Parts: sequence; C-alpha cells; structure tokens
Amino acid sequence: MKEILPGATIGILGGGQLGRMAAMEARRLGYGVVIYDPDPSCPAAAIADKHWIGGYDDIDKLLDFAAAADVLTYEFENISSLALRKLEEESLLFPSAAVLEICQHRVREKEFLSSRGFPTVSYKVVNRPEELSSKAADLGFPSILKTAQLGYDGKGQVSLSSIEDCFSAWENIGKPAIALLEKRLELLAEFSVIIGRDHKKNVSFFPIPRNFHKKGILDFTIVPSGLGKRLEKEAKEIAFEIAAALDLIGLLAVEFFLTENEDIVVNELAPRPHNSGHFSLDICLTSQFEQLLRIICNLPLGATSARSNGLMRNLLGDLWRADNQPNWAGLLKLPGLKLHLYGKKQPRVGRKMGHYCIVGENMDDILALDTQALQILENNLS
Ligand SMILES: Nc1ncnc2c1ncn2[C@@H]1O[C@H](COP(=O)(O)OP(=O)(O)O)[C@@H](O)[C@H]1O
Ligand SMILES: [Mg+2]
Repeated sequence: MKEILPGATIGILGGGQLGRMAAMEARRLGYGVVIYDPDPSCPAAAIADKHWIGGYDDIDKLLDFAAAADVLTYEFENISSLALRKLEEESLLFPSAAVLEICQHRVREKEFLSSRGFPTVSYKVVNRPEELSSKAADLGFPSILKTAQLGYDGKGQVSLSSIEDCFSAWENIGKPAIALLEKRLELLAEFSVIIGRDHKKNVSFFPIPRNFHKKGILDFTIVPSGLGKRLEKEAKEIAFEIAAALDLIGLLAVEFFLTENEDIVVNELAPRPHNSGHFSLDICLTSQFEQLLRIICNLPLGATSARSNGLMRNLLGDLWRADNQPNWAGLLKLPGLKLHLYGKKQPRVGRKMGHYCIVGENMDDILALDTQALQILENNLS
C-alpha cells in the first residue's frame, strides 16, 4: 500500500471523544477529516470537514461517506459487520472488519482468546435465559453476566451472587440474543497494554497505565503502572501475540486483570484508541491517536516513550450541577494539569464529558495535585 500523506482525508466511523481526539491529531498533521455518526452534535463534528449523519447499518450512506475519505478507521465498535465488510470492499479500512467482528462481540472475543490459549477469566456462554441458573451453578458464585454486544462502561452487566439473582438477570441486561457469564474475580489490579502494529508488522507499545475503576467505569489511570518489569513484560508478550493472531493493522488495547494469585488474565480487547491511553496526548511524544493515524496511513511508527509521569482522570457528567459547570478556572490554576473537554452539551450521570491529565515527575506530587483537583471539583457540588 502507498503512503497516505498529509493533505489526504481520514474517515472516522464514530464521532465520540475518541473520534474527536483522533480528528484533532489528524488536523495537526495536516489531514482532512470526515466523520460518520448518527448524532448531529457528536463531539467530533466540530473538528471534521464534513459529518455524515446516519445509522451504522445504512450501507448506502456509509458508502457515500467512505467515498469522501482516502482511508477509514473506526472509534466505535458497534458497527454492523455486514456494512463494514461492504466498506472494506470499496475502501481501505484499518483495523480490518474481521478484527472488529471478533472484538465487538464478547462471546466471539472470549472464544478467540481461549481457543488460542490466552489466559482469560473462567466463563460460560449462555445461549438462552433457561440455561442461566445451571450454568451459573456450575461456574460458581459470585459471577457476572454480560451481554455479548453493545455493552460499555459497565453497562449491560449484572453481578450474580446466588441462584436467586439469576431469575431477573437476563432482563436486567436487556434480554440479549446471547450472553457471557464470567467468574467474578477479586482483583489486585487492572491495567492495559496499548499496542500499535503497522503494515510491515512492526509494533510499538505505549507505557502501561494502571487503571482504577468505579462502578464499572474507568475512574483514573496512572503511568507508570508500578506493577513491575516482570508483569509488564509478560503482558506485552501476550498483547503482541494477540495482535499477531488478529493480523492487526492498527491499534489494540488489551485490558488485563491481575488476580489474587498474581496471575494475569486478559479481560477484553478494543481495536481502537482506548480511554486508558489518553495520558499519551500529554506525556508521550506520539499519542495513541497519532500512532493510529500513522499506521493506517502506512507511515513510520512514532516514538511512544513517556517524557514524564502522569495521572489521567475522567470527568463524568456527575460533576455538573443544574446549570453549573465544574470550576474549570480553579482546576486550571494547578500546575501541570492539562484539561480536555469533549464539547458535549448534555451532562448525564456516568457520561464521559472530559478528562484531565496531571503531568509531573514524582508520583506523590502528582497524587497530591489530583487530591487538590478533586477538592476543587467537589466544592462545586456542595
Ligand atoms: N470477571 C470480572 N471480575 C472482576 N471484575 C470484573 C470482571 N468483569 C468486569 N469487571 C469489572 O468491571 C469493569 C468493566 O467490565 P468490562 O468487561 O471491561 O466491560 P466494559 O466494556 O464495560 O469496559 C472492569 O474493568 C472490572 O473493573
Ligand atoms: Mg473494559
């Protein structure tokens, strides 16, 4: 494939914050940007040259959009695989439709991982609600039932602590066609490996963030992870093998759990920029968004080493009160804090509205600044 040079147009399927940040990086590099998203006021719309408003199964509209781009990528996983295959026949699309088909479906993803011997949580595939109680009893409690498709930020999941919980569980996750039942583990830590793999099979890794979740949503990440060289090396090797098994051209985030026994298991995969990689915008020479662009355009991989340490914290809609925005001016007084807002008009509980990254050398200082930032945000709520 020829190089796609600045001046060409990048097409992004999905116009959420990931699409917005990718579009901003594309603009910085001198590319044109077109996006496809059903929401007229999606975050990337303000950055794009043109926005196609349509459903992710509207093949004619998708093809019309694709014709305006030199290369396509996606930031959103729930695109109809039929539509994506069609796009791939007509256009350059990275990562491939085959990769997305695996990663957009929890059952396919888990079976892909376990059939190739990658470590995962113990699980069972549940095809019908009637199967749930016996499979849950076999697997043992506590467990988590997850819809195979469309879940994100802990949505489409329910915890099961006894047989009684099984009765309402299927309905609670929206009566899916198929679901995944996982053993609920006690976690020592969560972290993710973000790997880029190019057309020539060269790979690059981002520094590994350690991830802290609240109610199933990523709350904050720290870099470096503090998890030690041995674990990080093992996780990178697994991510490398997964990317190779997928024949990936693009970016892949591999979410890991560190279990009570200090084993690592793969939680899930995302073939796109990842929330836990946002720190790369402020502390790495090449951000995850730029790396994705370089890869899909067949350009050299960028250097990803961290220039400093950092903490990234998500800012959810919970921080907004009535007409009151959080105290941005207060936050911006803090040295080393970089604020990113996604331009979303409607704050809602659990909705990702922005994030900040605190950049520094010493992790204790970074954590102290984060505490100050949290106090400023909480004062706004009281
Ligand atoms: N099997 C499990 N054991 C323990 N915690 C889990 C398990 N599955 C999910 N979680 C918790 O819920 C979070 C979100 O689940 P995940 O499967 O990654 O879905 P999502 O697509 O919403 O990110 C995880 O990051 C983890 O904190
Ligand atoms: Mg996850």
